Amino acid sequence: MTDFVGAIDQGTTSTRFIVFDHDGMPVASHQLEHEQVLPRAGWVEHNPLEIWERTQAVIGSALTTAGLATSDLAAIGVTNQRETAIIWDRRTGRPYYNAVVWQDTRTDSIAKALDADGRGDVIRRKAGLPPATYFSAGKVQWLLENVEGLRAAAERGDALFGTPDTWVVWNLTGGPDGGIHATDVTNASRTMLMDLTTLDWDDELLGFFGIPRAMLPTIHSSSDATAYGMTTVDRSGAAGVRITGVLGDQQAATVGQVCFAPGEAKNTYGTGNFLLLNTGEELVRSSNGLLSTVAYRFGDAKPVYALEGSIAVTGSAVQWLRDQLGIISGASEVEPLAASVPDTGGVYFVPAFSGLFAPYWRSDARGAIVGLSRFNTNAHVARATLEAICYQSRDVVDAMAADSGVTLTTLKVDGGITANNLCMQLQANILGVPVSKPVVPETTALGAAYAAGLATGFWSGTDELRANWAQAQRWEPQWTDAQRRDGYAGWRKAVERTLGWVD
Ligand code: G3P
Repeated sequence: MTDFVGAIDQGTTSTRFIVFDHDGMPVASHQLEHEQVLPRAGWVEHNPLEIWERTQAVIGSALTTAGLATSDLAAIGVTNQRETAIIWDRRTGRPYYNAVVWQDTRTDSIAKALDADGRGDVIRRKAGLPPATYFSAGKVQWLLENVEGLRAAAERGDALFGTPDTWVVWNLTGGPDGGIHATDVTNASRTMLMDLTTLDWDDELLGFFGIPRAMLPTIHSSSDATAYGMTTVDRSGAAGVRITGVLGDQQAATVGQVCFAPGEAKNTYGTGNFLLLNTGEELVRSSNGLLSTVAYRFGDAKPVYALEGSIAVTGSAVQWLRDQLGIISGASEVEPLAASVPDTGGVYFVPAFSGLFAPYWRSDARGAIVGLSRFNTNAHVARATLEAICYQSRDVVDAMAADSGVTLTTLKVDGGITANNLCMQLQANILGVPVSKPVVPETTALGAAYAAGLATGFWSGTDELRANWAQAQRWEPQWTDAQRRDGYAGWRKAVERTLGWVD
């Protein structure tokens, strides 16, 4: 038996390949960043060819460095930044335009129009999503309307659409020479084009955006032994391996954190934060600004659904301190700077750079730093940035409790900022519940590996995966109830100041 499973994690800022053993421990990995193309305010793009280049490079380097061969891999799983839209020519593999990234707000008027004429309510009911710039369909409509010749190519069947999972799988399985054009239910559930109950593309939704069905990939389970084909690209060093798992990165982290029972939740701290609560086979509809989404579907089993609180800007606010304000020179400096003061000195920072996502869904919001006095320094702003990450998570935890009646007793966390002890302590203080981090923090890649390994029998079932989960660190709340109440009241007041800033 082959000893390992590989996982490609194609994220917003980087692509990584991690090889896991049977205990779910990483044995090899490599990661490369790609360029963030920012042509105008609110626009965020990636070069799909650079992403494909990086994908091959990280697979090759991870395998070579660890002295592993393709024959050591039982399967490969693919996970990805969700919603990001790529359209390419099936005959050449050339993208018609850069990838339009989930954070991009150029489709604001498309999103607004959906609520003006009643289409928004149909999208909420069928797709479980509020009309917003975040999701793929508006981006595809924008590309069809703005890239010369694209609509005709799409109608001829020459143009293929995909989120980054689809792009990577198509290229890995041969590209123009027979590449598999496929996606999974979790990624499809983020497009605004899939009906959450039929798990198929919906003609009425396609009609809202003028999207020809011929562009769309086939939707499969997140864990499937044959649907995603076999890698054919020798350059990556991974030719001849079956791709048997595909799922969006936040759903993958839910699997990696073994949230398999209704009521179990995880919060991932990346560019943004994404809190998912497993709601089981029941599709729960939110009245409090959360998304209904597919958590995963393994093989022919029924789909498992989740409620999701998506927050656009958390880790990227720390990057903003580094790249735009220049008050730190590396992300790791934010912790000592924030820890150099005992509190924020009355400052709140609401990083509404892309408007506000869950639970507000206000594209008219813009960022604000409020409560400043002459006393305040860089250190207060740094600490307010960490608190903003935690307050935004509190907003979605509260919404989740209101929607589901589930009150979290512990919050399972993962992702980059969980290395920041102060931030995790603040999270426990602000929520009033303990925060728990697993031994393997790479839960996104691990979840993709799990989905792939379940399909091939590398892992026997979810009980075996549960046994792999172990806690590495835990933070207990230290604030008094009064501190927590007053701090949160200040946050809500600050959020109010950001709403309606742009038309
Ligand atoms: O919905 C967007 C999300 O999938 C992006 O995740 O980790 O690439 O920022 P990440």
